[in-house]
Amino acid sequence: MPVAYEQKDTILHVENLTVAYGEKVVLKDVNLIERDVVRPEKKQGQIIAFVGRSGRGKSTLFKALTGLAKPTSGRVLIPDYSQPPTDGRQPAKLVEEGDVGFVNQKYTLFRHKTVYQALHFALRKSNLSSQEKDEKIMHYLADWGLEKNKDQFPNELSGGQRQRTAILEQLLSSGYYMVLDEPFSGLDVGNIDNVKKAFQLINESHELNTIMFSTHDIELAVELADSLYVIGYPPAEVNAATHAGTIIKHFDLKQMGLAWHDGFDNDHLACVHDIKKLMLQS
Ligand SMILES: Nc1ncnc2c1ncn2[C@@H]1O[C@H](COP(=O)(O)OP(=O)(O)OP(=O)(O)O)[C@@H](O)[C@H]1O
Ligand SMILES: [Mg+2]
Repeated sequence: MPVAYEQKDTILHVENLTVAYGEKVVLKDVNLIERDVVRPEKKQGQIIAFVGRSGRGKSTLFKALTGLAKPTSGRVLIPDYSQPPTDGRQPAKLVEEGDVGFVNQKYTLFRHKTVYQALHFALRKSNLSSQEKDEKIMHYLADWGLEKNKDQFPNELSGGQRQRTAILEQLLSSGYYMVLDEPFSGLDVGNIDNVKKAFQLINESHELNTIMFSTHDIELAVELADSLYVIGYPPAEVNAATHAGTIIKHFDLKQMGLAWHDGFDNDHLACVHDIKKLMLQS
């Protein structure tokens, strides 16, 4: 059953992006535009998946999206919410380090900070009063099943608890955008479920919240995302001596009627099949 939605303001614009390490061009001519998804009577954030075979440049793209890697050419634009809108539109700005939360695969945490202290630190730039910060943290800890762990240090947490803490930290310190590089790798079924729930919580808690993630689990990508990009080598160049990754295909899962479903049906499976086939050729 199709779900009604509209697409409004541009929230991410990647324009002719090329990224190289030294002489080696790793990503070439990446172009994408994502817009704010608006659904009637529902707060609806965005979940964007990036899939592709190993070494095609997903992590490199994420470094550019978070401002950690300077593009060789092209640019990454996001709306500048510190400026007033002109003609009803938010002016755009080049992405800078700190604009987009980045959760790397290792879920690095401060060794000497408890969960509570780490989250408090994440809110250091916020204008909230000390009491408001405390309330906000306690609210999130309860929602994310971490209340009992609030005074524990990272080495006293399970992998899944560490993970949720790392995601929360980014959620509190960054704005609406969050990039997660392979957040599901190496997790047991229970923890996969926890991260999935965390995605849903983020997705439903603010209209502009935008999660971008990479994964090698194509089923999971199709299940969670409303927009999906396949990163690969252009098929004609797969066997060339030098090649750079780019977007091979965009799957707009909203338009395909596959987004925001509770389950996974035959149409999702067919899409997974198409994606895997494309990946094998790129
Ligand atoms: N710091 C670096 N210096 C030089 N080359 C790099 C560097 N980081 C990555 N690369 C190269 O860039 C290419 C893309 O790597 P990247 O990590 O972006 O791929 P990926 O799609 O994330 O792969 P995976 O699925 O294995 O994580 C690879 O050929 C890799 O060897
Ligand atoms: Mg990677």
